[in-house]
Amino acid sequence: MSTSAVPIDLPWARNYVESHVDKRQVNKIQHAFPSPRFWSNREVPVDQVKENRNRLESVRDSAISLYMGVPFCIKTDPGKCGYCLFPVEDYTGNASMDDYLENYLKKEVEMMKSSLEGKNLWGVYFGGGTSNLYRPEKYQVLMDLVHELFPVISPQVDITLEGIPQLFSRDKLEAIRDSGMNRISMGVQQLNEDLNRLSGRKQTKKQVIRAIENSQELGLACNVDVIFGWPQQTLDSMVKDLEELVALGVRDITHYELNVGGPTDFALNRYHELPSTLTNLEMYRVSRDLLQSHGFEQVTAYNWRKAGEQEIKPYEEGVIRRFTSIDAVGFGYAAMTFFMDVELDRGQSWSYINWRNLDQYRRAIEEGRYPAECGYQHDPEDFRLFMLFRNLFALELDREAYHDAFGLDVFEEFSNVWTALEEFGLAEITEEKIALVGDGPFYTPMVQTMLAEERYRHLRSREVRGRGIGKPAV
Ligand SMILES: C[S@@+](CC[C@H](N)C(=O)[O-])C[C@H]1O[C@@H](n2cnc3c(N)ncnc32)[C@H](O)[C@@H]1O
Ligand code: SF4
Repeated sequence: MSTSAVPIDLPWARNYVESHVDKRQVNKIQHAFPSPRFWSNREVPVDQVKENRNRLESVRDSAISLYMGVPFCIKTDPGKCGYCLFPVEDYTGNASMDDYLENYLKKEVEMMKSSLEGKNLWGVYFGGGTSNLYRPEKYQVLMDLVHELFPVISPQVDITLEGIPQLFSRDKLEAIRDSGMNRISMGVQQLNEDLNRLSGRKQTKKQVIRAIENSQELGLACNVDVIFGWPQQTLDSMVKDLEELVALGVRDITHYELNVGGPTDFALNRYHELPSTLTNLEMYRVSRDLLQSHGFEQVTAYNWRKAGEQEIKPYEEGVIRRFTSIDAVGFGYAAMTFFMDVELDRGQSWSYINWRNLDQYRRAIEEGRYPAECGYQHDPEDFRLFMLFRNLFALELDREAYHDAFGLDVFEEFSNVWTALEEFGLAEITEEKIALVGDGPFYTPMVQTMLAEERYRHLRSREVRGRGIGKPAV
């Protein structure tokens, strides 16, 4: 591991882009900085973190993004849908779902309640795992938890529940709507049943269509997740899927590039069936042109949205188009929390993640402890990179807003990286902003790596010296 502090000069940046444009993007887009590899197993002082946060004037009217997760997913063969890198547990029946909700999630909400009193709610996301494994009567129970924290919820707040197509039955969708949730997000991945079957997922195209139509009839906004760069997938198959979704009236599409890694079936046994990196790039270009030709706007590197009567506001948007603060509170197994603000003193901004081991999560709640597994205490440099990553994910940086928040010119700070990206046609730099253009959004992971290179060198050297970071968490 190199610890030498070679500065990021222009030849390095040019060379980096040149040697990476045809390489597989091994790291997916990061929504946080630094990578969880640098998070520490030292105990996260959650009470202190909450207290630090609440003593700020600026947080009085700050808006909170709420996340509630569920650990369970239907078992597949191959396991974890063949590609999934999220922590999940096998679903074993309603009893474990009910136990998790009634005896754990509810208690965790109680523990956090006082620190959220008086705050505004920006958005709610019930994710996982597979949140639509809950039976119909449980959606109201989930919403009661949100009301426990936020007694008054404006109708403008997006409240999304994520799940798989075959479980979005009509009666569940009705219960979801009646509970006050107003959006679903459905993991489709592939409409093509032959391709979908490679993942062991059992949904049929008919079920996908029925769920989309039912959500439309019930007035629920509906996001569909699809993945490109899938084993055996061709450009034609991708185009057919997207055309069909557009024809079905879907206005909110998340088009992920497959992230291949870990001990997944796709990484271990289907790597040779993956489209090449340059085919993936072609897929990105074709999907972009196709969606734009149908009136979709690119909101983030992978979120596409068509304006309509229903204003759709992705959950993450509230925390990405600014530089000053982020308040995202996660409840449940593997949920992440971000309490970060530019006004906090050095080292007072924190990210942390709840236990990704169900027994550990349960034990913490049973013992009345916050179920935080590990976290990271941000220095101002980390906070800047974190906010830079978030804004870049939304395709552009407002230079003045960055300057107002940090007193720095973001172009000057990373001038060699931006210049190299501009030379390769991946970024556009003006007095007002820096935007990812052309194939730039496809290369977001590479751009993030370049921007973070110096800081990562520093963090790695700190790790080697055995100071400050503690034992790496993952
Ligand atoms: C964590 S899943 C939860 C939703 C639900 N369990 C499902 O699978 O439909 C959310 C989305 O992440 C995406 N995802 C999961 N693993 C991925 C990977 N390795 N590469 C790209 N996208 C992935 C899928 O599109 C999935 O719909
Ligand atoms: S893709 Fe969804 S259903 Fe499959 S393992 Fe991951 S979270 Fe569970």
